[in-house]
Amino acid sequence: MSQKMQRINVDALELHSGKFNYIKLFSVLLLGIVLFGAQSAVAAIPNAIPSGMGALPTKVPDNPENPMTPAKIELGKKLYFEPALSASGQFSCNSCHNLSTYGVDNQAFSIGHGWQRGGRNSPTVMNSAFWSKQFWDGRAPLLEDQAKGPALNPVEMASKDPAEVEARLRAAGYQAEFEAVFGSKDALTYDNMANAIAAFERTLITPNAPFDKFVRGEGDISAAAKRGMNKVSEIGCTSCHSGALFTNNQFMKFNYGTDDGLKSVTGKEEDSHLFRVQSWRNVAMTAPYFHDGSAATLEDAVVTMAKVQLGRTLSKDEVSDIVAFLKTLTGESPVVSYPILPRPEGIALDWEED
Ligand code: HEC
Ligand code: HEC
Repeated sequence: MSQKMQRINVDALELHSGKFNYIKLFSVLLLGIVLFGAQSAVAAIPNAIPSGMGALPTKVPDNPENPMTPAKIELGKKLYFEPALSASGQFSCNSCHNLSTYGVDNQAFSIGHGWQRGGRNSPTVMNSAFWSKQFWDGRAPLLEDQAKGPALNPVEMASKDPAEVEARLRAAGYQAEFEAVFGSKDALTYDNMANAIAAFERTLITPNAPFDKFVRGEGDISAAAKRGMNKVSEIGCTSCHSGALFTNNQFMKFNYGTDDGLKSVTGKEEDSHLFRVQSWRNVAMTAPYFHDGSAATLEDAVVTMAKVQLGRTLSKDEVSDIVAFLKTLTGESPVVSYPILPRPEGIALDWEED
């Protein structure tokens, strides 16, 4: 009796495994057919990268007058996180350009001195070493020039003058480090503060985006992203958002909103509503969009760009393909260890304002 039961069991097992093999074989065949179909659908989308597009350069343009040394970069990092640059002791560069979130604060307008909001959206500092001009209106040609702005800007850090910032840095205990980095007794200056910050900013680049790996043949991007990649080229977005940086670094007319753009710097009528073409690098991480932060999502920004710049109404599918492509441009954020700032021994800085 027990022998019989065992036999039955074995038979049942055999039968079961036979059935299983049959199902398995069938599934493999079916999967093969599905994959083959998908493969040919992918093959129908050109893999070729439209001309001009490319991987993010791994070397940033250096400033020969302000060479990057490890000690200068380290000092620049401290200053980047240093609230002593602000009159209230409440704001550092990192408040508005947060390195934990791709160099932005994701606010339409950042909060600065006295909890005021400025009139322009904070752009990212990531890859800013590659832009030929800084700010939406390009008023600062180099990172060194740019870095002299915020500490004195009344709605950002609101310090009275360079001497006030220098005095606070001296009180905080920076003297020796400035001397060591710049090699002179009177090295603690506002200009050297800007030099150190700029050297640090040149380390903030974001390589190895999925698109870069795709360009180098090290990875793939989705079919939707490939359709988006070809679409932006075909309809002319890349006439302005061109090259590996996805910006031609030029001023282009953007007839949108009330901000005068470059005209606010030059006073010239022909510069009205000219803005620097913003890069698409990491754009998926830097919402909201435009100089006034008025586009909440990447979809909104793409729809508006197509309409205002190209007179074109995109279909829903076109928008989602373009957004899928833009998302492949998010690179690896640099890992930045949090600096411990110099302070006089045993004393916190006094931020009482007069
Ligand atoms: C209160 C917020 C705030 C603080 C603090 C601040 N910034 Fe900015 N930053 C902005 C805004 C807003 C803009 C855009 C202004 C414009 O274009 O007119 C900007 C622009 C920039 C740009 C130009 C980027 C580009 O794509 O053109 C760089 C670089 C930059 N800031 C670096 C710094 C550094 C370095 C510090 C510290 C010394 C700093 N910022 C402090 C808000 C801030
Ligand atoms: C004529 C030049 C031009 C064309 C063509 C153009 N753009 Fe732009 N784009 C700009 C300028 C200039 C800005 C900066 C706008 C501002 O100052 O607010 C910008 C900004 C953007 C932004 C927001 C970036 C940010 O950080 O806020 C996105 C996204 C964008 N463009 C996508 C596109 C797409 C997609 C197309 C094609 C449908 C396109 N652009 C076509 C010039 C152009």
